[in-house]
Amino acid sequence: MLRIAVIGAGRIGHVHARSVANHPEAQLVLVCDPIGDAAEKLATQYGARSCKDADEVFANPEVDAVIIGSPTHLHLPQLIAAAKAGKAVLCEKPVAQDVAQVEAVQDELDQITTPVMFGFNRRFDPSFAAVKKGVDEGKIGDLEQLTIISRDPAAPPASYIKVSGGIFRDMTIHDFDMARNFLGDIAEVNASGQNFVPEIKAEGDFDAAVVVLTAANGKVATIINNRRCASGYDQRLEAAGSEGAMFAENVRAHTVRLSTAESTNAEAPYLDFFLDRYEAAYSNELSAFINAVSTGKAPEPGLNDAVKALRIADAATTSAHEGRPVRLDA
Ligand SMILES: NC(=O)c1ccc[n+]([C@@H]2O[C@H](COP(=O)([O-])OP(=O)(O)OC[C@H]3O[C@@H](n4cnc5c(N)ncnc54)[C@H](O)[C@@H]3O)[C@@H](O)[C@H]2O)c1
Repeated sequence: MLRIAVIGAGRIGHVHARSVANHPEAQLVLVCDPIGDAAEKLATQYGARSCKDADEVFANPEVDAVIIGSPTHLHLPQLIAAAKAGKAVLCEKPVAQDVAQVEAVQDELDQITTPVMFGFNRRFDPSFAAVKKGVDEGKIGDLEQLTIISRDPAAPPASYIKVSGGIFRDMTIHDFDMARNFLGDIAEVNASGQNFVPEIKAEGDFDAAVVVLTAANGKVATIINNRRCASGYDQRLEAAGSEGAMFAENVRAHTVRLSTAESTNAEAPYLDFFLDRYEAAYSNELSAFINAVSTGKAPEPGLNDAVKALRIADAATTSAHEGRPVRLDA
């Protein structure tokens, strides 16, 4: 039984607390959040204890592992403090607001010996994982083009955008990790940003983007993102190869279709947002983390994957703002 503390009782903190509480090999022992009664409320829901100061989590001998779901700028300091205290860490993406922040603490990161995994939960989504498996098994011949569509139902508030690191580091980073998962290391990034939400534009960030990634092996991925989408949480993936293609479509609450004189094939809307759409993915991610911690195998995706995805995000930010492709060292 892995005794786990969740740091940050916000949106993703709720997802992880539920996933830990429901997992047969995990126990939620502590929830930490300094703001209001957020930690206490979430902890009480699952019979755990709460605190306001993350240092209490790191000092607690009853905590084996921590899940970091605090705002992005706190990930590195909390990850380092947790690892120093001997805790295994599952940290939310992105690792930091940019690669320079990672490099500034590289010496401390190099000293980490406890297992560290990053929350690229989409690798663990049953549909996306099935496409990856099919591609690896050669079902579509040689993979030639990968297309990822990821649109959120509604944009987050400006307060979230301020500390997010920007769309490419906060949102597209999931897709950068997915592209690396399929294509390997990325050599060139060509990004174009768009603005449809004035509040996000006012923060100097884009709220929609199209990115073309060229991998070191010449294969290409196209990523389409939007912070808001009238038709809901739009999450699709297509892998096209020399002998066929595989498609992961949107997931709906049920499979009933309605046909009338006015329309045909009206179906239930897409599962709304990450908590529901990726529930299985978060649970599988937690299982992979617990398995790595208990077997001593290095967890995947790890710190190296998180930094590589962030490097692509930094390059995409430069590319979109300067209107030019950016090359990456392998
Ligand atoms: N993997 C995913 O699908 C996914 C989804 C959403 C968010 N995220 C990531 O999770 C992180 C949090 O996002 P969110 O949407 O849950 O944000 P949020 O604002 O809803 O929650 C963050 C919480 O952290 C708390 N907090 C602030 N300072 C803290 C501190 N010093 N110690 C502990 N907690 C502190 C806040 O009070 C808040 O409750 C971000 O880095 C985001 O990129 C990942």
